[in-house]
Amino acid sequence: MKTNEPLLISGHQISPIVVSSAAGFSGRGIFLFSLLFPAYRELMRVIRKTNATILTKSSTYERHIGNSRPWNPFTWKFIQRFEKDGLLNAYGLTNDGVEVNARAIAAACRAGYNVIPNFYSQFAKGQTLAIAETLKAITVYLHHLGHYFWALELNFSCPNAKEEIRKNMEDALACVAAIRFRYPHLCLIGKISVVHPHKFAQELIDAGVNVIHAVNSVPYKMVPPDGPPSPLAAAGGGDVSGGPAFDRAARYNSVLRRRITAPIIMGCGVMHTYDADVYRSIGANAVSICSVVRLKPREAVKIIKRSAA
Ligand SMILES: Cc1cc2nc3c(=O)[nH]c(=O)nc-3n(C[C@H](O)[C@H](O)[C@H](O)COP(=O)(O)O)c2cc1C
Repeated sequence: MKTNEPLLISGHQISPIVVSSAAGFSGRGIFLFSLLFPAYRELMRVIRKTNATILTKSSTYERHIGNSRPWNPFTWKFIQRFEKDGLLNAYGLTNDGVEVNARAIAAACRAGYNVIPNFYSQFAKGQTLAIAETLKAITVYLHHLGHYFWALELNFSCPNAKEEIRKNMEDALACVAAIRFRYPHLCLIGKISVVHPHKFAQELIDAGVNVIHAVNSVPYKMVPPDGPPSPLAAAGGGDVSGGPAFDRAARYNSVLRRRITAPIIMGCGVMHTYDADVYRSIGANAVSICSVVRLKPREAVKIIKRSAA
């Protein structure tokens, strides 16, 4: 099985293994992890050397304070271990806003990292404002990143109640259409959730998305469906990533592959090289990793090196 063919999008490459969120807002590594853990530092070195594609943690337009805040230990419970090799998180998008994050991404690109920004459009502010902010965010990325800015990941994976998802889909499609109208050549990656119906992926593509990233972490209530109440019930239950989410995500992705012909970055639950092989065997064009970086950075190095060989 070929593991080392990059996904080509109009002259640019997305590497066979993509690092999603785990290299922070800049893509250059997460502060403290980089300082304290040699295995994480080694991973960041391998990511740079192999030119692996990095998708950053999500930026909002303005600074946003979510549940988990790095500077407040009382909020660290919002990212906790789950079962043997998983994470449960309800961290809530704490970030410094696009201006700060774009500067940091530009520095990471100049330092040799291959970074694609991830943006979260805050539709809760209303569709018109959220789209206006997203378009302004793109001008900020263009200003700071210049020629490094060829692609943008849009995080539409808001795993909540049905009505909210339906509204989220309408908003997402309008947002993609507005970006595509203004920026016909920008590569757009749409990140979706297991709670989205599969047809949403095709609708995103019809609206102008080039690549689907499926899927984000899985809502706790779906893993396992009849389990005990979530330890993060007060924060909406949280979302599961890593090993315990793999089966649910893989089932979703195998159906998705049969429904769309567009490129798919498949992820969620990849903890070993053979998990990445499973995604490839069901038709992934690239595979993303996140929790394995945090829980088993040495295994993440193996997964990246094998695909880059
Ligand atoms: C602590 C934590 C923070 C995350 N932050 C983001 C984020 O800011 N934006 C985003 O699109 N996905 C985010 N994710 C989702 C991951 O990028 C990834 O899609 C998900 O965890 C499933 O992959 P995995 O099982 O390999 O971890 C986060 C995941 C975790 C565990």
